Amino acid sequence: MKLGKKISEGKTKIVYESDNPNEVILEFKDDITAGDGLKHDIIKDKGYLNAAISAEFFRILNKKGIPTHFIEFTPPRFMKVKSLVMLPVEVVCRRIAAGHLLKRLPIKAGTNFKPGLVELYYKDDEHHDPMINEDHIRILNLGTVDEAREIKEITVKVSDALAEYLTSYGIVLADLKIEFGRDKNNNLVVGDEINGDSCRLWDEKIEGKIYDKDVYRKGAPLNKVKDTYIELYKMLLKKDPKLG
Ligand SMILES: Nc1ncnc2c1ncn2[C@@H]1O[C@H](COP(=O)(O)OP(=O)(O)O)[C@@H](O)[C@H]1O
Ligand SMILES: [Mg+2]
Repeated sequence: MKLGKKISEGKTKIVYESDNPNEVILEFKDDITAGDGLKHDIIKDKGYLNAAISAEFFRILNKKGIPTHFIEFTPPRFMKVKSLVMLPVEVVCRRIAAGHLLKRLPIKAGTNFKPGLVELYYKDDEHHDPMINEDHIRILNLGTVDEAREIKEITVKVSDALAEYLTSYGIVLADLKIEFGRDKNNNLVVGDEINGDSCRLWDEKIEGKIYDKDVYRKGAPLNKVKDTYIELYKMLLKKDPKLG
């Protein structure tokens, strides 16, 4: 795998050109952030653990025929993906009520949603990622109302596929956040990353045992946060990570 020119850098990943104009390479950094980027730390090997877990999740989705950008994982921290024009939208699917939702609406923690509750957020730091709907997608020139519906339908499929897979590992998928882009044929494709930074993952049996970034949000020491990511890696990949 040859790393080309750096195209862009976000909070947790760097995008590079590859030797194929239709593909880019994502590097997963060791940065961890929360609360609109106000909380920020570096955890050695976090990029590697998250890249490996993302690759595993994308493999599951590709096998189910869900369109994703994933092509190949190159350890320790690179993913070759289809080059997409990303939409500045975060798509959330909630299966169990948790997090921010509880502050916004009179819904009890732990309420089950079937089918999953899908929410769209416009990625815009200045406006603190406001929630939007299908009409805003159209008005912001991000896509048609039908495409917004397609995005929501694919998100439910992603959520159901990963929930089914995670159940077999004794993990409950409470919610997830994904991002979409358009490929060269203008098709909507699941891009970016899916891992413990973007999902709520709970132990099926042990109440309060979590395997995701909430451990960090709640202020656990960084070594405990790292242990959580290692634990998730071991459960899903069924081997020990090769830590640096
Ligand atoms: N398949 C892809 N093609 C092109 N860019 C992508 C792809 N997948 C993800 N990206 C982009 O990678 C960038 C870096 O990711 P990240 O660090 O998570 O950014 P952010 O700080 O916006 O969350 C983001 O701008 C994201 O849109
Ligand atoms: Mg991101």
